[in-house]
Amino acid sequence: MNVHAAAPAKAHRLDDRMSAFASDVIDGLSQQPKQLSPKYFYDAAGSELFEQITLLPEYYPTRTELGILRERGAEIAKLIPHGAALVEFGAGATTKVRLLLDQCKFGAYVPVDISGDFLNAQAHALAADFPALDIYPVTADFTAPFALPAAVKAMPKVGFFPGSTLGNFEPHEACGFLRGARKILGEGAQMIIGVDLEKDERVLVDAYNDAAGVTARFNLNVLVRINAELGGNFDLSAFTHRAIYNRERHRIEMHLISHKAQTVRILGRSFAFRAGESIHTESSYKYSLDRFTALAKGSGWTPTASRTDAGGMFSVHALVAEG
Ligand code: AVJ
Repeated sequence: MNVHAAAPAKAHRLDDRMSAFASDVIDGLSQQPKQLSPKYFYDAAGSELFEQITLLPEYYPTRTELGILRERGAEIAKLIPHGAALVEFGAGATTKVRLLLDQCKFGAYVPVDISGDFLNAQAHALAADFPALDIYPVTADFTAPFALPAAVKAMPKVGFFPGSTLGNFEPHEACGFLRGARKILGEGAQMIIGVDLEKDERVLVDAYNDAAGVTARFNLNVLVRINAELGGNFDLSAFTHRAIYNRERHRIEMHLISHKAQTVRILGRSFAFRAGESIHTESSYKYSLDRFTALAKGSGWTPTASRTDAGGMFSVHALVAEG
């Protein structure tokens, strides 16, 4: 068996995670404007809805990034030393990592994700297709420091952060993430990172307002989760999905808008909504090549190669932790 499962690090992991969800929800809905973290979209139903989003005609990022990795994978692979450990931050579907694994001989694959069950299922599916690859799943929140498995410590490290997940971070958090990743991977490590680019506003807005309404269901799913896991009583028919482009801040914003004045109860607390009041559920920052390069340099990484698709929609960057 080439999947090396780690023993759970903490006895009360599930309880800890539940209370983090509870306290984040209570904090976020107590703020003005109200907000919820996009990391809570991804329970089993939310992950499934996100997979559907990636197939939508309007949602260009996934297929564009896959195209770049397919066309440029061999070039990228040349930058990577033989036998390196590939550390993926947030491991969802394995489609993208397979393109790297096909091109390059890695010593180990370390997918890191908060959702342990999904992670282990994906690891086993991948193991069946790459029987010679040692896989070390790590169940952790990759936005906080975590330890790499001892077995990969001596290998060169390559981080992989596809999908423009970086876009979910506020600019200072993106810098913090890149600095943290450098610390975890170490001096001399490389990083391959996918970053969505600024473009025509119509294209951006359509990508988050698909005609089939899948993104709306994805957005509303966070309320479904609060109802199911925290005993909330959100009336789903009383909130609407809205996505807008905030040009000054270079970001798509997703909101859930309350149709009417209403009160929602969660864990014994009441949250009052005005008619038209929003819960800000996600920001998805869009970068220019210059702004991303400046961010990387300011966070301890030197860009070594940047590739986009022919339409300039999406970018994939190779970085090295130097200096
Ligand atoms: C997974 C954060 C990259 O921002 O495009 C897709 C999530 N939200 N549609 C993105 C998302 C609505 C996605 N990321």
